[in-house]
Amino acid sequence: RRTPVARQEDGSYVISTYRELADILHNPHLSSDVRNMSHPMPSAEGATTPSFINMDPPEHDRLRRIAMRHFGPPHTPGLVTAMEPALTATVGGLIDDFTGKEQIDIVDDLAYPFPVTVICHLLGVPREDEPRFRVWVNGLINAIDYDPRTDPKEKLENGVQARKDLHEYLGGLLAQRHGRPGDDLLSRLANDDGPDGRMTDEEIISTANLLLIAGHETTVNLIANGMLTLLRHPQILERLRGDPDLIVPLVEELLRYEPPVHIIPWRAAYSDVTVADTVIPKGSQIMLMLASGSRDPDRFHDPDRFDPDRRDNQHLGFGSGIHLCFGGPLARREAQIALGELVRRLDRPRLVADPPPYRRSPVLRGPIHLLVE
Ligand code: HEM
Repeated sequence: RRTPVARQEDGSYVISTYRELADILHNPHLSSDVRNMSHPMPSAEGATTPSFINMDPPEHDRLRRIAMRHFGPPHTPGLVTAMEPALTATVGGLIDDFTGKEQIDIVDDLAYPFPVTVICHLLGVPREDEPRFRVWVNGLINAIDYDPRTDPKEKLENGVQARKDLHEYLGGLLAQRHGRPGDDLLSRLANDDGPDGRMTDEEIISTANLLLIAGHETTVNLIANGMLTLLRHPQILERLRGDPDLIVPLVEELLRYEPPVHIIPWRAAYSDVTVADTVIPKGSQIMLMLASGSRDPDRFHDPDRFDPDRRDNQHLGFGSGIHLCFGGPLARREAQIALGELVRRLDRPRLVADPPPYRRSPVLRGPIHLLVE
C-alpha cells in the first residue's frame, strides 16, 4: 500500500496494487516481447520465434486470433461443454486408481495427470510421451527458480537446452501432421488457411509449446492449491459436500486467494510510463505481482480471508488486457470437476503435512506434493 511501485536494485520495477496492475495490464506502452528485455526468460532465450504470450501487436494479435479460431472464446465454452463427460471420466478413473490407498498424493495422483491428459488430447501430443516432456518443462520452469542449492548458470543452460529439446520434439509431431491431418489442434493449426493466413511451422511449434506448458502447469497448481485450501477450511469443505454448486464461486475465490500465477515477470516499458506518481523510465523491465493485487485491501474487503461468498470477485488470476488467458474456461472447469469429485469421494481426508513442500518458483505457486490420508 505504501509502495505500489518499487524500484529494485537491478533497475527493474515491481507493481503490486490492484488499481495500478489493472491499469498497466491495459497500457499500450508496455511490451511483453522478451526480445526487448534486459533479463529475458530462459524459455525464450535463443528462440527464433517466441510464443505469442511474449509478443506485442500486431504479431501477437494475428497469432492469438488464429489460435483462438480453434481454441479460445467463443469456442472454448462449447468445447469445454463437449469435453465435460471425458473430463469427469478421467477424474473418476484417477480417483478409482487410488481408492483404498492409505495415503495419496493429490499432486502426483490427480492434480498433475489430469490436466496433462487433457492438454495432450487437445493438442495431439501422445500421452505416453509425458515423461519426456516433463523433464523439459521442469527444466524451463526451474531455470527461474530461487533454489539456492542449484547453480544459476547451470539452470539457465538446462533451461535453454530444454527449450530446444521441446521445440525439436513438437517439430517432429508437426511434421507428421502436414501429410496426415487429424482432428487435434496441431493438425488444425497446420492446415488453417483462414483470413489471417497460415502460421509458419515455427509459429505453430511455439504456440503448441505455449499451450502445452500453460495448459497444464498452472491448472495443476489450481487443483492442488484448491485441495489444500479446502483442507484448511473444513467448514467450507463440508458446505461444498452438501451444496455442489458452491464449486463455481469457490474456484473463482481460489483464483483470487491462492492463484497459480503469482507474478508476470515479462513486461518492459516502450517509453517512459507513469504509475502512481512514479516515472518508470523507457526500457525498464517491470514485474506484475498479480497475487498481491488480488489481495489488495483497497479492492477486496478482508482480502486474506478465503470467502467463496465474495461478490464482485474480479481477481487478476488470469491477467487482463490483450494477453488475458484464453484457457480460463477450460482451467476453471477442470478445477471444478477435480475438486468437486475429490470432496465427494474422499472420506474424511486429512493433511499429512502442513505446509506441504512448494515449488521454488517466484512465478508459479503450488505444492510439489500434497499428501493426504
Ligand atoms: C495467458 C494464467 C490456464 C493458455 C495467461 C496469463 C495468465 C494466465 C496470468 C497472462 C499472461 C500475461 O499477461 O503475460 C493461467 C492460470 C491458469 C491458466 C492461472 C490455470 C488455472 C491455461 C490453460 C491454457 C492457457 C488451461 C490453455 C490450454 C494461455 C495462453 C495465454 C495465457 C495461450 C497467452 C495469451 C496471450 O498472450 O494472448 N494465463 N492460465 N492457460 N494462458 Fe493461461
